[in-house]
Amino acid sequence: MSELDREWAGQSNLRPVGIVGAGPAGLTLANLLRQGGIPCVVLERGTREYIETRPRAGVIEHRAVRMLDEHGLADRLLREADRHGACEFRVNGQAHEVDYAALYDGQTHYVYPQQEVVKDLLGAFLDSGGDVRFSVTDVELHDIETSSPYLTWTSASGERERLDCSFIAGADGFHGVTRRSIPAGAVQEFSHQHGIEWLSILAEAPPSTHKVIYALHPDGFAGHMLRSSTVSRYYLQVPVDDTVDNWPDERVWAELHKRLALRDSDWKLTEGRITEKRILDMRSYVVEPMNHGNLYLLGDAAHIITPVGAKGMNLALHDAEVLAAALMEYTRTGDDAGLRSYSEVCLRRVWRAQEFSQWMVFMIHRSPEPFLSRLGQARLEHLIASGSSAGYFAQNYVGP
Ligand code: PHB
Repeated sequence: MSELDREWAGQSNLRPVGIVGAGPAGLTLANLLRQGGIPCVVLERGTREYIETRPRAGVIEHRAVRMLDEHGLADRLLREADRHGACEFRVNGQAHEVDYAALYDGQTHYVYPQQEVVKDLLGAFLDSGGDVRFSVTDVELHDIETSSPYLTWTSASGERERLDCSFIAGADGFHGVTRRSIPAGAVQEFSHQHGIEWLSILAEAPPSTHKVIYALHPDGFAGHMLRSSTVSRYYLQVPVDDTVDNWPDERVWAELHKRLALRDSDWKLTEGRITEKRILDMRSYVVEPMNHGNLYLLGDAAHIITPVGAKGMNLALHDAEVLAAALMEYTRTGDDAGLRSYSEVCLRRVWRAQEFSQWMVFMIHRSPEPFLSRLGQARLEHLIASGSSAGYFAQNYVGP
């Protein structure tokens, strides 16, 4: 143990980091801090059952898995997740495979539903004696611009509680309270509506493919994504302002069969019981900087991205890794360089991902403007035909 470590380990009066939100970002941060000996308390508005079963994203990048594994947090993931290094684009009824792992250092995606990530991270944190308060309401942030910020909330049993913190980490999603606690004018917000909507469908159906399928059809995009051997996720591009009520199950399947169809092939889509239908509005949002005073934002609290390219959870995990390292460095040595550069380091990756997601959005959708649709199709044809374009895709899709 170094002298600094000894000195730091002796600080029994270290105030905890208050983490708001027990999603992938908040729980990764919590585990990394706990492993580094930094106390933290996690506040979560849902119940344990709710967060462990809520279906969301399902794809983790090589880099994020490596980071989790370095901290002993990927054992089950590495045992159970399928690895994917190729995807398929369907255009005019023809399939074109892009072997992105071969184009990018053998790096693959891991298919592992977000709720399983949450289950593993929460289990690891609680097993190590970590403190999570579930079902909290009315969380408020106080004195975030001072060195003594604190949180108050109403506990599950109805009592008002308070936590004096060293720092506050806001990992409570796009609609959470933490970002809203920053005074107006202190940060800059960037948002973009892509003018596209997806109907997102989850079904108890075995996958009809071993690779993610992106299909470009004259009636709009259709996607077949993977979750497990018994559950699959599909997406359909639908008109802006469409509603779930317009999409009875029979219409969903008919449209998926039509848009995913292959010419001269006996490929078939297997149907199953639909368990979730939601409209996803394709929106991007970034707040700059990602911190204010002693409040640091992570994941969707700081940025949202379209689901295209499956970057959201990966960005959240990266934020947690960077913030944990910065907090550890500061606590051990008093050096706040990592905290000062936190936002800049994270935003570099966030904007790279936003640019790539936008590039893909444009490529795989039908625009109401026919000229733009043809440009998107030309981009896809170039990707299929050109090694350099496929290389760009691979690097950004599974990396960087
Ligand atoms: C998903 O698994 O939901 C998914 C995968 C790839 C995408 C978008 C979504 O590009």
